[in-house]
Parts: sequence; structure tokens; C-alpha cells
Amino acid sequence: MLSIEIVPSKDATILVPILHEAEEGDERILKTIEDPSTTAYLAQVGDDIVGAVVMRWAPAESEIVYIATEPAWRGQGYGKAIMRWIIEEAQRRGTAEIIVGTANAGLDQIAFYQKCGFRMDSVRKNFFDYFPAPVYENGIRLQDMLMLKLVVADLPDETTHP
Ligand SMILES: CC(C)(COP(=O)(O)OP(=O)(O)OC[C@H]1O[C@@H](n2cnc3c(N)ncnc32)[C@H](O)[C@@H]1OP(=O)(O)O)[C@@H](O)C(=O)NCCC(=O)NCCS
Repeated sequence: MLSIEIVPSKDATILVPILHEAEEGDERILKTIEDPSTTAYLAQVGDDIVGAVVMRWAPAESEIVYIATEPAWRGQGYGKAIMRWIIEEAQRRGTAEIIVGTANAGLDQIAFYQKCGFRMDSVRKNFFDYFPAPVYENGIRLQDMLMLKLVVADLPDETTHP
């Protein structure tokens, strides 16, 4: 199993470029990491920063606001390692559920979250109406936010899929 260290961080100069991969609006990222209801973390392997995550912890339902791994470190299990830490931390905090939202067109992210044990939960239709012009990913227009959920109590001891 990969060994990563997750450390809280408020350093926008490091966090924003990593999280830009998950959210193009740097102003929105800044506002989110300055929001006292969120906690931002860096994922490190030795001296290397491999990714970042922003959580909104709450007893009933915690939210993954942003999660990203650095492009050079993708596809090597670090996304799942960060997710394993999120789930373990949720268990430590006694959080019942973890939710995450992803765009209808984010096929890669939809695959990733399901591989980490999340199930589809609901759709926030027209969530992306605030975009000033149409945005496409995988040839699909971003319109709706798909919410996925992981019920912590439903997990077997091994936190993610085999
Ligand atoms: C989504 C993301 C965090 C995944 O991180 P990663 O480090 O590549 O993930 P892992 O290497 O741990 O892969 C975990 C699983 O997801 C799968 N996966 C990852 N990216 C995938 C993709 N593009 N398409 C299909 N499956 C994918 C892997 O194949 C792996 O499955 P496996 O366990 O069956 O082998 C990363 O691609 C990323 O940072 N993307 C940009 C930011 C983003 O979109 N964030 C989410 C929205 S907030």
C-alpha cells in the first residue's frame, strides 16, 4: 500500500495550482480555502507534493470539495491513497456519510469515485448555469452536478474496493 502523508495547509500559492485541475476558477478555490468551514490538505510523499484535497467536515455528512493529484503522479494509486485517508479520517471523526459532486461530463472523475466506493446519489440540475459561456468536457456540455455518496457505516474493514 502506498504511503502518503496528509498535512493541513493554508498556503494558497501551493494549493491553488494543484486544485486548479479540479476547479478552473482560482478565485472560487481561494474563497473556498479561506472559508472557515473547510480544511485544505496537501498529500506528500517524502518531500514531493503529490496532490491536495479540501474537505468540509461535518458529523452527519462531510463533503469532498476538491481533490486532485499532480498530473505527473496520476494513475499510480495516489488518488486512491488520498481517498483512503479521507475515509479513515471520516471514521475517526464519526462522520456518517461522505459526499462529492462532479460534473455530468467528468467521465474520468465519475469512474474514479465509483472505484473508490462512492454510489450515485442525486443530480443538481443546471448547476453550471453560472458559466458565462458553454464549457465542454469529453464532448459533453457541463450542465448538471452529479452527487455521489459513500456511507461510512456500510464499508467493510477494507475501505475501498478490492
Ligand atoms: C481524479 C484524480 C484525483 C484521480 O487520481 P489518480 O491519482 O489518477 O487516481 P489513482 O491512480 O489512485 O486511480 C484510482 C482508480 O481510479 C481510476 N482512474 C483514475 N483516473 C481515471 C480516468 N481518467 N479514467 C478512468 N479511471 C480512472 C484508476 O484506473 C484507478 O482504478 P483501479 O484501482 O481499478 O486501477 C486525478 O485524475 C485528478 O486529479 N484529476 C483532476 C482533478 C479532478 O478532476 N478532481 C476531481 C474533481 S474535484
